[in-house]
Amino acid sequence: MTDEIALDKADYDFQHKHLLGLADYTKEDILYILEQAQYFREILDRAVPKVPTLRDKTIVNLFYENSTRTRLSFELAQKRMGADVVNFSSGSSSVKKGESLKDTIRNISSMKIDMVVVRHESPGVPHFLTRCVDAAIINAGDGAHEHPTQALLDMFSMQQIYPDLEGRHIAIIGDISHSRVVRSNILGLLKLGAEVTVCGPKTMMPAFVKEMGANVSYNIEETLQWCDIAMALRIQLERQDEGTELFPSIREYHQLFGITMKHLDEYPDFTIMHPGPVNRGVEMESRVADSDRSIILDQVTNGLAVRMAILYLLSGGTRI
Ligand code: CP
Repeated sequence: MTDEIALDKADYDFQHKHLLGLADYTKEDILYILEQAQYFREILDRAVPKVPTLRDKTIVNLFYENSTRTRLSFELAQKRMGADVVNFSSGSSSVKKGESLKDTIRNISSMKIDMVVVRHESPGVPHFLTRCVDAAIINAGDGAHEHPTQALLDMFSMQQIYPDLEGRHIAIIGDISHSRVVRSNILGLLKLGAEVTVCGPKTMMPAFVKEMGANVSYNIEETLQWCDIAMALRIQLERQDEGTELFPSIREYHQLFGITMKHLDEYPDFTIMHPGPVNRGVEMESRVADSDRSIILDQVTNGLAVRMAILYLLSGGTRI
């Protein structure tokens, strides 16, 4: 077999069958995944960015919610690793005829699948699936609960600037109440020893932020002055109930919490991240997203490497 990359699982006892959330993963697990991802990141820069690690595996991507980055990234990662890939969209399936989630997954499982990547609007669906089928389950976002692969790719991207995140100041700014990304990032970043400040309108600041051990700020100027990295989060208008809006207007939100070119001039040290999709002119000025202080597109490239590492480890991590 090829020795193109020298991954060796023997040096760390990676015990997990599933990736349901970072709550279940230790600091050592996270650092190990990020280390493995580095090998896959190097492969992506090669003329032929492929390894046959998953060539005997069948993977289903089960998406009940819209996605661009996560879905394409998983599919590309799986194909680059030689897996057989099946894509399921609830909108074009028998879900429309009333089939339950449990029956759907049991039917898919009968086709002898090894792994399921699932995105669903309800928190806990990935956990539920572990009780329905024998396959490895990867959470690609469950409601406002967790989005572990996003947080892992975020931490990987941060490590490219600051290899050791211990003591680093990370700000997460935006719609906290509807975000699964914030919860997974707080869990992961605190485990790696970073200091996390979460900033946004009071109406969008849930109690769990402080309970998890992050700082809370309602002042974007203080936050940007303090941080090494500012991760803006999307305002999720589709998850707000009509009549219970959490801020008066998009314009006011941008004035109070949007990152502007003026901020880049005033605070020259922080790097900008965003998990996407970006609402240009809301979370940040359009020019900020495209500036050389932004690593938003690097996050997307890194996501591919991180997802390859996760697929590799959860498939048993056979040496190639
Ligand atoms: N960051 C993220 O989860 O993007 P998608 O919704 O496009 O997958």
